[in-house]
Amino acid sequence: MKRLVVLSGAGMSAESGVSTFRDSNGLWENHRIEEVASPIAWQNNPQMVLEFYNQRRKQLFEVEPNAGHKALLRLEKKFDVQIITQNVDDLHERAGSSNVLHLHGEMKKVRSTLDPGLVYTLDHWELKWGDKCEKGSQLRPHIVWFGEGVPLIGTAVEIISEADIVLVIGTSMVVYPAAGLIGYAPESSPKYYIDPKAFPVSGITNLTIVKEKAGKGVPRLVNQLLEEA
Ligand code: APR
Repeated sequence: MKRLVVLSGAGMSAESGVSTFRDSNGLWENHRIEEVASPIAWQNNPQMVLEFYNQRRKQLFEVEPNAGHKALLRLEKKFDVQIITQNVDDLHERAGSSNVLHLHGEMKKVRSTLDPGLVYTLDHWELKWGDKCEKGSQLRPHIVWFGEGVPLIGTAVEIISEADIVLVIGTSMVVYPAAGLIGYAPESSPKYYIDPKAFPVSGITNLTIVKEKAGKGVPRLVNQLLEEA
């Protein structure tokens, strides 16, 4: 089976009602990143950080996968599909996708501040100050904050280096190292960039621009790829 790699960003979940970061009225417009999504923020004002993620996590329990998420599942009939997402929601998994790698962490997971290997899945939306791991240290969101390393980037590079086809969906391509992943795809592999603001990424060959929302552009491309396979 050919390997098809999906690189998804916040636009993938926009039609599910999950805010993107940099669109008008996006998450970062209403917050200073340094105040809610960085180790310094956690050190200076953990309550504000917990509240920022609690509100986003609460929303996750109220949204559903959209037609774009669901269309990606259909590709698994004829391709070895590997999803590499910058998103911290679980909508790809809830749509049924099998192989999802979260570069920037997962909203429904929390981890020990003493032992990062201790990761727990929350079945409710609120993480409170005083919620502790089994070793007695405060739990924090299992999210890669600005200024922190991206532990899974090496794995992601390995995956995309073997891609026969690449779909880039709903990302502004401004945050590295995630934005640099497309550069590791084989030059000869066809790549499709689906985003209303998709643009020709410099240095990337064999790239088809699809200026569409995910909910419309992804199902249409999936139909085409399944017919061609
Ligand atoms: N369908 C497809 N794409 C869409 C849609 C939609 N319905 N709506 C918006 N978009 C596109 C926008 O045009 C934009 O290119 O989604 C992209 C959203 O860009 P960002 O908000 O920058 O999100 P993303 O690229 O995922 O951000 C990367 O930055 O803040 C950090 O860690 C955070 O993972 C995030 C990273």
